[in-house]
Amino acid sequence: MAAHIDHLVTSGTFSLDGGTWEVDNNVWIVGDDTECLVIDPAHDAEAILAAVGDRKLVGILCTHAHDDHIGAAAPLQAARNAPTHLHPDDMVLWDRVYPDAPPSRPLDDGQVIPVGGIDLQVLHTPGHSPGAVCFYAPALGTLFSGDTLFHGGPGATGRSFSDFPTIIESISTKLLTLPPETVVLTGHGEPTTIGAEAAQLPDWIARGH
Ligand SMILES: [Fe+2]
Repeated sequence: MAAHIDHLVTSGTFSLDGGTWEVDNNVWIVGDDTECLVIDPAHDAEAILAAVGDRKLVGILCTHAHDDHIGAAAPLQAARNAPTHLHPDDMVLWDRVYPDAPPSRPLDDGQVIPVGGIDLQVLHTPGHSPGAVCFYAPALGTLFSGDTLFHGGPGATGRSFSDFPTIIESISTKLLTLPPETVVLTGHGEPTTIGAEAAQLPDWIARGH
């Protein structure tokens, strides 16, 4: 089968700034029948490995290093000898979870990551965190937005290492310039499209979150 997307939801907690919250995370697996990438290894390595199946796991991509998104990174990497990828500007968050185990490879704006006959383009979209990235798959008409863009607005910017004007700049210049029909698969909750969200931008700026 040609390149396609598998989805699972895993559950656990997110902790930052002294608080802890229960969260459900979307985990996205992109590839064909022989190889795949995992986007955001959240919470449950066993469930993710089951979804990967006997395919070769060619990489583990982190949209950012909040602890809910990377909790299964180390066990996945160990189980399948797959490199973990993170933008270096999120090391400040990564080091809180894995102080002695840096990611295998850096992500950089404009980088292209092939898998299963298609390409993922890395878009550096700081704001939710300094090293937040999105992955755009033109062949699938799909953006994996992490916690940068959700159905109904931008990612949260109220906690440490976040900045609202920065996320608005990222969304405006890097994401809303994609084709309006692009499907947006988010780090939490329901999917959306670029076109549906673009219309809301002035409202987000007016409300300030
Ligand atoms: Fe996050």
